[in-house]
Amino acid sequence: MTNRGCLYIFYMMRNLVAVILAAGKGTRMKSSLPKALHEIAGRPMLFYPVNVLKKLGVQRIIVVVGHAGADVIKTLSCARGATTEKITFVEQKKQLGTGHAVLCALRAIKGFKGGVLILSGDVPLITETTLKALVKLHCKGKLSLITAVPGNRQGCNPPTGYGRILRNANNAVIQVVEEKDATPEQKTIQEINTGIYLISSEFLFANIKKIGSKNAQKEYCLPDLVRLAVQGGLRVKALTHLDPDEVMGVNNRAELAKAALVMRLRIAHELMLSGVTVIHPETAYIDHGVRVGPDTVIHPCVHLGGRTSIAGGCVIEQGAVITDSSIGKGSIVKSCCVIDQARIGNAVVTGPFARIRPGTVIKNNARVGNFVEVKKSVIGSGARANHLSYLGDAVIGSGVNIGAGVITCNYDGFKKHVTTIEDNAFIGSDSQLVAPVRVGRGAYVGSGTTVTKDVPPGSLVTSRAGEKIIKGWAAKRKKNG
Ligand code: UD1
Ligand code: CA
Repeated sequence: MTNRGCLYIFYMMRNLVAVILAAGKGTRMKSSLPKALHEIAGRPMLFYPVNVLKKLGVQRIIVVVGHAGADVIKTLSCARGATTEKITFVEQKKQLGTGHAVLCALRAIKGFKGGVLILSGDVPLITETTLKALVKLHCKGKLSLITAVPGNRQGCNPPTGYGRILRNANNAVIQVVEEKDATPEQKTIQEINTGIYLISSEFLFANIKKIGSKNAQKEYCLPDLVRLAVQGGLRVKALTHLDPDEVMGVNNRAELAKAALVMRLRIAHELMLSGVTVIHPETAYIDHGVRVGPDTVIHPCVHLGGRTSIAGGCVIEQGAVITDSSIGKGSIVKSCCVIDQARIGNAVVTGPFARIRPGTVIKNNARVGNFVEVKKSVIGSGARANHLSYLGDAVIGSGVNIGAGVITCNYDGFKKHVTTIEDNAFIGSDSQLVAPVRVGRGAYVGSGTTVTKDVPPGSLVTSRAGEKIIKGWAAKRKKNG
């Protein structure tokens, strides 16, 4: 776009208020959760249209809530990265239809002069680019809308669940007919209404109350404005969108899964363009807002959720599930690790099959190997715990070696206690450290020891019973049956 074009769009956006309709229950979801709060890539569905509108820079965003409205407001206000700046929530007490929902929204913008951009909370994949194209097309028009032809993608089956666009012999849009009101012939129309409109405030204020409810649903249907505009001699402009996925509505769980897939592919695509290798994008479960640095390789079936950030040059192997955690440069998370609310430094290797629980900090160059569980512990730089251990509430210094099967006994049945292992100590395999306890710098714990007392730096502790060898015992046992 030219500089002039950009300036024009910027100017237009400042003169727009946006309304998002999200008061419906979402009956077809068959859920106790309101539809707007069902998640797509780790965020409530409603987060996405709000986010797009914020990026567009519209003057104000009015969100119409109704069914479980308080929950919707709370979740949206607390969602990661969300701010309610510019957002006004308006209540639609009874869900009498999309036209009535807009009527409720108009209460919040009395006296406003400009364009009103109307989106649905259940059309989450809409992008800035498409909305800018609508703004451009609308120019100084009265009513413009986005249509799509889903059959472009799905073969020739008529679309289901959408209002159909009626055009006259001159190809001008004259009406939207809801599926439930459509004749069999109208149902075969391929072009559908996406529920996204740009309407001049003047036209909206003058006509919103003229919408009737004489239809199969007995609802005040917003698309009826198209008929009213045409009857009033106005030309309705339609932007026919070429990618029906972007404007798909989410009304049931199957559509939710489809929208989530499209969103995940988008996220993976953006990461790939920024220099991340995603080996099988279709199976990359990466939440919106997760950061990944260049030259990191993400293997199939990896889940990266919440506030996770992964630095550059890492390898995240198949089946890893990483939530709300940070991973430093050049680290390797091997197959099937579960990492939650942890901070992992640079060049660390974890797994395969390691479980890193909340509050854990693993410092640079450390190794946490297979079947090791770490909870709320610090693992010092270069320390190793390579096999089959439980390390809970432990503070482990640098260069420490934790042998196979070591357990920190952190719980006495009432309280949790800390185990401290100072730098370069060596904990022999199959030892138990009964907390609170401290193993001094450079000390050795012999294999199979149960440590209950502090071990001074540089010493050796063992608690093994002496071995007894009985020669020829096996042969005697066989003979006696
Ligand atoms: C709507 C359109 C249909 C279009 C489709 C595109 C109407 C009557 N029909 O149908 O032409 O093809 O979207 O996805 O508008 N809502 C309220 N208050 C209400 C009713 C609905 O806020 O009283 C909200 C819903 O929460 C939802 C949106 O409006 O976010 C659309 O409502 P929905 O019932 O999903 O309409 P559709 O049947 O999909
Ligand atoms: Ca819908």
